[in-house]
Amino acid sequence: MDKGAVARHFSRAAASYDQVAELQRQVADALLAEYQQSTGTILDLGCGTGYLSGQLQAGFAVAGQQTSRVVALDLAPGMLAQARQQHPQPGIHWLQGDAEALPLAEGCCSAVLSSLAVQWCSDPQQLFRECWRVLKPGGQLLLSTLGPATLHELRQAWAESDNAAHVNRFWSLASWQRASGSGWQGQWLQRNWTLYYPRAWALMKELKLLGASHVEGERSVQGLGGRQRLQQVEQGYRQFVTEQGLPATYEVFLAVLRKPE
Ligand SMILES: C[S@@+](CC[C@H](N)C(=O)[O-])C[C@H]1O[C@@H](n2cnc3c(N)ncnc32)[C@H](O)[C@@H]1O
Repeated sequence: MDKGAVARHFSRAAASYDQVAELQRQVADALLAEYQQSTGTILDLGCGTGYLSGQLQAGFAVAGQQTSRVVALDLAPGMLAQARQQHPQPGIHWLQGDAEALPLAEGCCSAVLSSLAVQWCSDPQQLFRECWRVLKPGGQLLLSTLGPATLHELRQAWAESDNAAHVNRFWSLASWQRASGSGWQGQWLQRNWTLYYPRAWALMKELKLLGASHVEGERSVQGLGGRQRLQQVEQGYRQFVTEQGLPATYEVFLAVLRKPE
């Protein structure tokens, strides 16, 4: 994964992200529903514009836990700048960094939460090693990420137009479980969301506004040939049409884990 390119895409999308991030908020809420409120330092890994960090900080404020804090970490400086502007309240510490090389001391966190960010990592084993290292014994690790069925309709519509990769590939549940290693307690859950669009173009535009349109090794689609191929994608996508519009599947895995005491 070219992390510089990932950070640039997300930084550029920071200002538009929240306008189109309804699914991302719903997935973050599903993750929060599995979280058992804890005190101390909570890490929001790949915090984006800070929705989850804000929710976690509000939980502390309601419980009167002024000594607890949220560390909100992201690779993209533009996302952090946007997040800081939207969540000026005290109790959130903003930090630029990489989930695979956390700039945090061993055993400093009582929980690590991460919503729809870890699919951008290069080495999932390294990610889990880092989460294990920064967690205290008994600490919670809650992750949401995308499965291989995600955007399968768009991938298939593109495949009928050319052989290049235009939609990211996502790891299977078995790969995630293997990468996590055997030390954790807990379980993995799987849930599907389907969104509907009037045209394939509207979905592709939304992915761009989210910063999620970066595809590893993608050739750009430009000029007249590019326009023809985009029309072919629109046509190819029609095979999936329903009464509600063109469906876009999101397969979501939720890891609800704990480092043993
Ligand atoms: C789809 S956004 C999700 C943001 C937020 N968690 C949410 O649910 O709205 C993915 C975020 O992960 C960040 N990210 C990608 N790779 C990362 C890495 N290796 N380390 C830290 N953050 C990363 C991106 O910069 C982006 O802000």
